[in-house]
Amino acid sequence: MIETRRILQGARVALRPLAAGDLRKIVKWYSDPQVIHFLGRGSPVTLAEEERWFRDYERKPDEQIFAIEVEGRHVGNLGLHRVDRVHRKADLGIVIGETMFWSRGFGTEAVRLGLRYAFEDLGMNKVALDVIEYNHRAIHSYEKCGFQREGIQRQDVYKDGRFVNVVRMSILADEFRARGG
Ligand SMILES: CC(C)(COP(=O)(O)OP(=O)(O)OC[C@H]1O[C@@H](n2cnc3c(N)ncnc32)[C@H](O)[C@@H]1OP(=O)(O)O)[C@@H](O)C(=O)NCCC(=O)NCCS
Repeated sequence: MIETRRILQGARVALRPLAAGDLRKIVKWYSDPQVIHFLGRGSPVTLAEEERWFRDYERKPDEQIFAIEVEGRHVGNLGLHRVDRVHRKADLGIVIGETMFWSRGFGTEAVRLGLRYAFEDLGMNKVALDVIEYNHRAIHSYEKCGFQREGIQRQDVYKDGRFVNVVRMSILADEFRARGG
């Protein structure tokens, strides 16, 4: 966990550091087939697994997870993973677990806040992510934020009885700045 107590405030979305008290909600989201369908992970998680994961996370120097809040309600998480201080790059992950909050612009705003934090606060040069090829909503949102497609990881995950491609996308600091940050 990268030590930050900061809250990143956007127009409609706020990102605050994830806390142990958030885990029950995450278990609920990661047990929802509608949500899992779009994620690389396959099966529901238990609270015990999430608690173990959170303890490991707290010791990791290269990861920062934020709770996404809309009007004070915790609706999802955004994470920066594998924060690499040498090559100044990180991976971004996002999940809005409350499905009624999908397609209302919150994800795009959260990603923009996460990118600003990665580039301006952590000094990253590149932020990348993996997205399942059929996740058109996510890809559209990432493209709106300035991500470009780097390539395809062929048949990289097994979902719903078939192997599916995963798209690798990234955005560079210069590109983020050129878009006005
Ligand atoms: C992916 C996710 C973070 C996007 O956040 P969101 O708040 O739902 O998305 P937004 O409303 O900000 O943006 C989605 C855009 O895609 C468009 N869209 C929605 N469904 C679409 C579809 N089936 N095909 C193409 N575009 C679509 C929306 O219209 C919107 O574009 P617009 O603003 O130009 O109209 C969120 O839907 C989510 O968490 N989904 C489940 C988990 C997941 O997929 N995580 C990402 C794994 S890589």
